[in-house]
Amino acid sequence: MRHEVIEKNMGLMIILIVVAISFGALVEIIPLFFMKQTTQPVENLRPLTALELEGRDIYQREGCLSCHTQMIRPFRAETERYGPYSVAGESVYDHPFLWGSKRTGPDLARVGQRYSDEWHRAHLYNPRDVVPESNMPGFPWLFENKIDGNDTANKMSALRMVGVPYTDEQIANAKTDVRGEREIDALVAYLQQLGTVIER
Ligand code: HEC
Repeated sequence: MRHEVIEKNMGLMIILIVVAISFGALVEIIPLFFMKQTTQPVENLRPLTALELEGRDIYQREGCLSCHTQMIRPFRAETERYGPYSVAGESVYDHPFLWGSKRTGPDLARVGQRYSDEWHRAHLYNPRDVVPESNMPGFPWLFENKIDGNDTANKMSALRMVGVPYTDEQIANAKTDVRGEREIDALVAYLQQLGTVIER
């Protein structure tokens, strides 16, 4: 068949483009479903506690993702600045993943345990109190808002359905674990565990 025939026939061209792109996607994506490296949790990975999970939801609600990535690429400049590059096995319990693509602020994949809880609270209340040149917004309402925990158990059950190994006990205790906690403390608990599963 001459190329000209395809180029002059819109319907045929659309069909062939769809076939070509689908094939490319299959070849790229399907093998990943069966590779251990992308489906097995790294050693010592544990599901987030109820409080950390609530913190993760606050992280999403407040849009931290729009300024911070959680994925360190395997380049020297990145690993020297942030620590070991990210591997897929760290994210198998993340639904949805929060890798992000925009770095107005630094990557947070290895921020856990780098600062004290006090530092995080001061920073999140008003970043300029601890980093004078910062242009990150403050989140003072997190210090007022309390978590009621009404949905926490349901969130954990839903995550269990997609493969996060929560125990019945963790789900049963979820509400009492988080009820009455301040949002700031949940968020800091979430930040403090980021990347700690990887040896640094
Ligand atoms: C408008 C962009 C923006 C948003 C939104 C934002 N940040 Fe930041 N963040 C920054 C910038 C810029 C810095 C670097 C300056 C500083 O440390 O304050 C930073 C720094 C940080 C640091 C210190 C990282 C390090 O390695 O020193 C943490 C932790 C952090 N942000 C957490 C958060 C959290 C949690 C949220 C959501 C509640 C958030 N940020 C929302 C821009 C942002």
